[in-house]
Amino acid sequence: MPMAEKKIFIKTFGCQMNEYDSDHIWRLFYEKGYRRAVSYQDADVVVINTCAVRQKAEDKFYSELGRIKKVKEKQPDIRICVIGCLAQLYGEHLVQRYPYIDVVLGTKQLLLLPTVLEQSTISYPFINTTMIRDPLIYPFPSTLIDKRVSAFVTIMQGCNNYCSYCIVPYVRGHEWSRSPDDIIREVTLLIKHGVKEITLLGQNVNAYGKTLSPRIRFSELLCHLDSIPGIKRLRFITSHPRDLTEDLISCFGKLRSLCEHIHLPLQSGSNTILQRMHRGYTQEMYREKIALLRETVPDISISSDIIVGFPGETEYDFSQTLALIEDVKFDELFIFHYTPRPGTPASRYTDTVPYDEKIRRLTLLTAVQQKIGFEKNSRLVGRIMPVLFDMNAKRGSNMIAGRLRTGKVVNCHAPPRVLGKIHNVLIEHATAHSLIGRIVNGEDGW
Ligand code: SAH
Ligand code: SF4
Ligand code: F3S
Repeated sequence: MPMAEKKIFIKTFGCQMNEYDSDHIWRLFYEKGYRRAVSYQDADVVVINTCAVRQKAEDKFYSELGRIKKVKEKQPDIRICVIGCLAQLYGEHLVQRYPYIDVVLGTKQLLLLPTVLEQSTISYPFINTTMIRDPLIYPFPSTLIDKRVSAFVTIMQGCNNYCSYCIVPYVRGHEWSRSPDDIIREVTLLIKHGVKEITLLGQNVNAYGKTLSPRIRFSELLCHLDSIPGIKRLRFITSHPRDLTEDLISCFGKLRSLCEHIHLPLQSGSNTILQRMHRGYTQEMYREKIALLRETVPDISISSDIIVGFPGETEYDFSQTLALIEDVKFDELFIFHYTPRPGTPASRYTDTVPYDEKIRRLTLLTAVQQKIGFEKNSRLVGRIMPVLFDMNAKRGSNMIAGRLRTGKVVNCHAPPRVLGKIHNVLIEHATAHSLIGRIVNGEDGW
């Protein structure tokens, strides 16, 4: 009798790099005969890929664990595996606090998970979170399991910046760039399987190549990828303002596939705070980069991250962030209130801004940005623009959603067959965060 197939449920928190890692893990399990479970109850193996970047990410993980505990009580044979950044941070402490966890693997070991579970001799709980210098090497996929139109490709790991509030360098290790040949090979494979949009990932993608010899610039990598036949859209996240060089800016508008969007985290508009954050730029330098980007591509969409309530942030510091946001007019902002992260320099500073005040600042910035976002999106009404349809819109809305080259989401009443295609869309309505439009032709464009 054939063995019943085993099922795996993977829950991913955190950034796109975690999604990329989870995808690789899924493929490795698939090659061992596993299939996807539809719920925790349906699974033989549960994998939680975790994020440590803010307290909220950590809290989400704990509430998920609460749900999993209940399942494990009823189905004790389920293997509960915690991997990624929180696994790296807390290691065996996780098992001490939550004894129903079976496996804890850090950011340098997570790809070993299928092999670990296969070993008949291992004893549980199994923990390995050794922070080694070597990078994580992803086995090259021979094929793709899930059909998709848009895919992530991690091009670098770790981070050497050590911004004073940030835990990433401690949990992800040193910065390391993948070889251009390896990246080109993976992108070529994805395109061959029908992918049209590639997003290059790294905590600081524009520092790409610094660890390679011979050194290669990020702009050169973009040129290589742009010339791959069939690539329609190329994106990258996240850029560090300090490493945003002129040669990179000049790629916008020059490389056909390179989309007119950049995510350029600002964090604060106050030079005092930026210095204490160890960001390596001033607000004046940041403004200059924005000016150069807009000179090169007037319609480029610019998004950013802001932290409010960093230790010592005065009302004056905050007013400078507000002023910068009002001047620059970002297309989208991700605003976070500061939370101390274990082991970071800032966690030793006195957390001077009370929680309620952090939330007041966050709410104020959100309201200002809401207005700016709406105004910017409203200017697109009446224009016809290409949309790559890649998702179903909100449940019950009967709409299909896609993105403009600028990354803005467009919802359309359209049949599901448009999924995976690029169509010209007439933009008819705008909100602060998305657009609504109507398909005006069926041509496959850019
Ligand atoms: N590598 C990127 C961002 C990584 S983390 C960069 O250099 O900007 C994503 C965002 O989380 C950061 O941009 C920052 O805004 C926020 N963040 C990181 N640590 C934080 C902390 N301790 N408290 C609040 N927000 C934080
Ligand atoms: Fe964290 Fe700074 Fe590195 Fe971004 S650049 S991951 S904020 S240390
Ligand atoms: Fe979170 Fe780790 Fe990414 S801390 S943001 S999952 S690198």
